[in-house]
Amino acid sequence: MCGIVGIIGTQAVAPRLIDGLKRLEYRGYDSAGLATLDGGAIARRRAKGKIAVLEERVRAEPVGGTTGIGHTRWATHGVPNEINAHPHANARVAVVHNGIIENFQALREELLAQGHSFASDTDTEVVVHLISQIIADGVDPIEATRRALARLEGAFALGILLQERPDVLIAARQGSPLAIGHGDGEMYLGSDALALAPMTRRITYLEDGDWAVLTTGGATIRDLDDRLVTRPEHLTSLSGAMIGKGGHRHFMAKEIFEQPQVIGDTLNAMFNPAERTITLPDLPFDLGAVPRITMIACGTASLAGLVGKYWIERFAGVAVDWDLASEFRYRAPVMAEGGLAVFISQSGETADTLAALRYCKQQGQHCLAIVNAPESSIAREADAVLPTLAGPEIGVASTKAFTTQLVVLACLAIALGRARGTMDRETEARLSGTLTEVPSRAAEVLNHDGRIKALAEETITPARDVLYLGRGTSYPLALEGALKLKEISYIHAEGYAAGEMKHGPIALIDDSVPVVVIAPSDDLFDKTASNVQEVVARGGKAVVFSDAAGVARLKDLALEAIALPAVDPFVAPILYAIPVQLLAYHTAVDKGTDVDQPRNLAKAVTVE
Ligand code: F6R
Repeated sequence: MCGIVGIIGTQAVAPRLIDGLKRLEYRGYDSAGLATLDGGAIARRRAKGKIAVLEERVRAEPVGGTTGIGHTRWATHGVPNEINAHPHANARVAVVHNGIIENFQALREELLAQGHSFASDTDTEVVVHLISQIIADGVDPIEATRRALARLEGAFALGILLQERPDVLIAARQGSPLAIGHGDGEMYLGSDALALAPMTRRITYLEDGDWAVLTTGGATIRDLDDRLVTRPEHLTSLSGAMIGKGGHRHFMAKEIFEQPQVIGDTLNAMFNPAERTITLPDLPFDLGAVPRITMIACGTASLAGLVGKYWIERFAGVAVDWDLASEFRYRAPVMAEGGLAVFISQSGETADTLAALRYCKQQGQHCLAIVNAPESSIAREADAVLPTLAGPEIGVASTKAFTTQLVVLACLAIALGRARGTMDRETEARLSGTLTEVPSRAAEVLNHDGRIKALAEETITPARDVLYLGRGTSYPLALEGALKLKEISYIHAEGYAAGEMKHGPIALIDDSVPVVVIAPSDDLFDKTASNVQEVVARGGKAVVFSDAAGVARLKDLALEAIALPAVDPFVAPILYAIPVQLLAYHTAVDKGTDVDQPRNLAKAVTVE
């Protein structure tokens, strides 16, 4: 999603803006640009494509100045090209924007009638003309900006340069994340703390409705009603060093291989080895008293939530509703009084998940966030947070965030079972014991990398369509396998509950459609094995992920059967996530797609 960086300082700003933009690359983008105040005038460089192209442009035509704004754009209104790239600017005002200005059409018509002409197809450009028009009407530039901001509807984060006020940089937030960084004699603006990490660790997050005037000496923040407000300063733990690939070819590979470590880190924060119990952080509500749970998220995070639903209903005997945030927020969901709503998000900034959280708060739900970004909006607005300790996830496809979300949900299921009296001490000790084995079993799964690579190249790359099947907690894994393959290899894939095959999808089976079956030895194995028979009987090519016992049963039927370590079915979804990640990864590498920044995708989806 779009990324913003801004600096009001004392050193040459253009190279520093480019450095900040590189740190925002992971969010996904299709063009980039920057604007500075150079010798009293707004100077701007923009380019379609990668930041390297912008860097080249700036090298060929340098821009001076010590104050500026930069942007990576993920297209919403208008195709990705240089004209639609940010900053949008005229001689008076330059603007970078993340989000959508919903009333841009009405504002554009009004401004066209006043004689303004528009260069781009974007919603953002109205902000430039609106501020300029108010300045032209004789209003002071900062006040003009305030009045313009008050007219904008939608979700946005903005960075604004004013030609007549080279001593300020303006920031505004309504729905989309924006952070202010505090430096020594300079100030910064960024979509996230990662962009600012090399310059400062002192961060202030703007709240919705806030707008701020930054000078080299500090920031003045006002709220929606234009009252002066103080927002707390945090010391971020993010490191200033550019996050590396650790010897891997892609961030995604590095993040897949980090899983034994981060699964262990996440579990260790909640597992008490002496007692063999799970201890969650103190929660401001009683887990034993919640009458119903709602699990809400988007994409891969929602699939972690679906596994969580199976676990919690089984071990804690409490009903769990599962919802996609983008659907939930536009229904009129009926919620049990005093219920618990769980929000799962790597970035903690997903617009739909955040909107769902706000709805649940209004409904009087206890709101619990499972997030990877501890300083994110979802983390800050929830009543309590269970952190995933995955570390920064840079590859757009979620991998280690997913498996650490599963670890937290497994711990939550155990804690709920204990609190509700549905799980005895012995079961808790057994289940938490099986969780402690996951890091070493995950390392064993990674040993299959070479074989999965060969499988990807021989069977998945040539396919046009791929099916993934699973039952029970392997069903969300089938959905996740298909999602992962689609998003990074662009091969069409569908995940199905294996029992649904006969209700339609079996018609797709022929010898050109690989069928990936996730079949750990559990109480549903025999049923899944029957589905494999049905696939093979129709000429389908079954690829089976199971354990030694399962492989022994299916190897004669399957085109390929890979034996993963035998584990308690409780933890199988965490381990079986890894081969489906590797299969998608190697297929994408073989196809030559942009694995870490797949086309059209963004890491943090901060627009709905
Ligand atoms: C897929 C993927 C996405 C995210 C989804 C939610 O690999 O990464 O489906 O899971 O966009 O993002 P977060 O977890 O940041 O809320």
